[in-house]
Amino acid sequence: MARKPRKKDQTFIRPAEQADIPVLVGFLVKLALHVDGGEPQILKRREKRRLMEYLATALTDNDKLVVVAEAPDSKLVGMGYIYIWRSQGIWEHAGDLEFKSGIIDNIWVEPEYRKLGIFSAMLRELVAFAESSAAHELILEYSVANKEAEATWSRLGFKTTGVRAAAFTHLVKDRLSQGGDK
Ligand SMILES: CC(C)(COP(=O)(O)OP(=O)(O)OC[C@H]1O[C@@H](n2cnc3c(N)ncnc32)[C@H](O)[C@@H]1OP(=O)(O)O)[C@@H](O)C(=O)NCCC(=O)NCCS
Repeated sequence: MARKPRKKDQTFIRPAEQADIPVLVGFLVKLALHVDGGEPQILKRREKRRLMEYLATALTDNDKLVVVAEAPDSKLVGMGYIYIWRSQGIWEHAGDLEFKSGIIDNIWVEPEYRKLGIFSAMLRELVAFAESSAAHELILEYSVANKEAEATWSRLGFKTTGVRAAAFTHLVKDRLSQGGDK
C-alpha cells in the first residue's frame, strides 16, 4: 500500500511496521478501557506480551492487515485491523466453494484527531484489502454500549445479524425456579 496524504491534516495512512507495535498495544489498551467504560487500569505484563505477539504475527500474515494513521510529526494517531476468515460451505450443493469474510477489529483514533476523516481513510484501506482478497462480506462486533461505534457502523450499512446476551448465573437459576422458562 502506498502512503496516502490526508487532505485535511496531512495524516498518512500506511501499513503498520514492527516498530509501531508498542504504540499499537497502547491503542488496544485504550480501546479496551473505552469499551469497558471503567477507570484507567494497568495491563498485566503477560497480556502485554500476548498483544505484542498477536500484532507481530498479524504483520507477517498475508491474510491480515494492520494500518496506522501517522501525523506529520510521525506520531501515530490511529489504527485499524482486518483479517480474512475462510469457511467451507456445509451443503452438498455448494461443492468445494470457499467463502471469505473480512473481519474488522481494533479500530482506534486518538480523541484529539477524531472527526477529521481518519477512520474513514483507514477503513478505505481495509475495504480495499478485503476486495483484493475476494472477501465479499465484512463482519465486525461492537458493544451496544459503544454508541459512537454503533452510529458509525450503521451509517456505513452494517446491520445487526446476531446478539450476544449475558445474564448472571444465579438470576437464570432464580428464573428457572420461578417457572420463567414456561
Ligand atoms: C469511532 C471512531 C473510530 C471514529 O473515528 P473518526 O476518525 O473520528 O471518524 P471519521 O472522522 O472518519 O468519521 C467517519 C464517520 O463516522 C461518523 N462518526 C464519527 N464519530 C462519530 C460519533 N462520535 N458519533 C456519530 N457518528 C460519528 C461521522 O459522521 C463520519 O461520517 P461523515 O464523514 O459522513 O460525517 C473514533 O471515534 C474512535 O476511535 N472511537 C473509539 C474507539 C471505538 O469506538 N472503536 C470501535 C469501532 S468504531
